[in-house]
Amino acid sequence: MQAVMCNSYGPASSLTIEDIAAPSPGPGEILVDVAYVGLNFFDTLIIENKYQVKPPLPFSPASEFSGHIRALGAGVTGFAIGQPVAGFIGYGAARAQVCCPSHQIVALPEGLSLEKAAGLFVTYGTTLHALKQRGHLRKGETLAVLGASGGVGLAAVEIGHAMGARVIACASSPEKLAFARKAGADEGIDYHTSDLKDALKAATNGRGVDVIYDPVGGALTESALRAIAWAGRLLVIGFAAGEIPRIPLNLALLKGCDIVGVFWGDFVRREPALHQENMREIFNMVRDGAISAHIHKIFPLSGIAEALGVLTRREALGKVLLKL
Ligand SMILES: NC(=O)c1ccc[n+]([C@@H]2O[C@H](COP(=O)([O-])OP(=O)(O)OC[C@H]3O[C@@H](n4cnc5c(N)ncnc54)[C@H](OP(=O)(O)O)[C@@H]3O)[C@@H](O)[C@H]2O)c1
Repeated sequence: MQAVMCNSYGPASSLTIEDIAAPSPGPGEILVDVAYVGLNFFDTLIIENKYQVKPPLPFSPASEFSGHIRALGAGVTGFAIGQPVAGFIGYGAARAQVCCPSHQIVALPEGLSLEKAAGLFVTYGTTLHALKQRGHLRKGETLAVLGASGGVGLAAVEIGHAMGARVIACASSPEKLAFARKAGADEGIDYHTSDLKDALKAATNGRGVDVIYDPVGGALTESALRAIAWAGRLLVIGFAAGEIPRIPLNLALLKGCDIVGVFWGDFVRREPALHQENMREIFNMVRDGAISAHIHKIFPLSGIAEALGVLTRREALGKVLLKL
């Protein structure tokens, strides 16, 4: 079978396409014929050994996929051969067939396409977990989303809107803000041209925002935190800017706010039943049109370097997929 292989850590241009032996499912695993693979920002890091998860070489990158079940390992119940499913495995998805633990696979409801389903785990799964279980976002609250046109950012705009929050999209260009508005943001702040703290304060009549969703990090985190409302929640999602911010802790005291970590990958492992419930909720939201799950572009498997380049260059408006 065809597989993208990372044989030595390095840029996407050093990935190779190889013909390797097909796997067979072990106990508790499901073998899936992959139809689409979803790419995420961390795939650009994992192949360069710059991510917290460090797979032994050689490995295939990409963590999420959709397809049809080809075989069931011993002890797997509740699934059938030929059934359309989607799943998350951390890394190893950019190949024609994937073996995945059954608790990390979710069956697709009728009416949800394999194409849409491939990119819903990392971005939308992280975001629903962040806003619901970690941020306790309530209807009518204000939600500021940094990096609002990127993978997880766009998911936060859409899910936040669907949960009844007033969504303030924050991004680095008018084009990205226009895109976030189309996805459901009520207003936008260009943090390339305006001071984020002042703009968030102005947008909330000085009250501050209830929940900040931050996948960007760097200097923007402290600016946003200085504009958080009393009893607000700063959700620590990621550091796409490349810098982990060091926050003066007196800010948390003065604001009476929570700084809340979100680690979706571990949530999937530690709370599999709740994860599956979240994913079913997301699948239904997409099927019903409550969230769009916009696809930026679909590349062939052999186009993975070009596809990852879209993420590295901050060009993606929504999901980037590979098609088998
Ligand atoms: N905590 C978790 O469980 C979890 C789960 C999934 C992802 N994440 C993390 O969330 C972050 C974003 O992931 P993603 O898939 O949404 O990425 P993405 O689609 O590439 O979006 C990242 C956004 O960050 C902004 N950004 C600012 N500086 C950047 C830089 N130097 N390079 C690239 N982007 C930059 C860009 O928006 P502007 O140009 O508008 O600033 C971009 O749209 C990553 O750090 C990822 O590891 C965490």
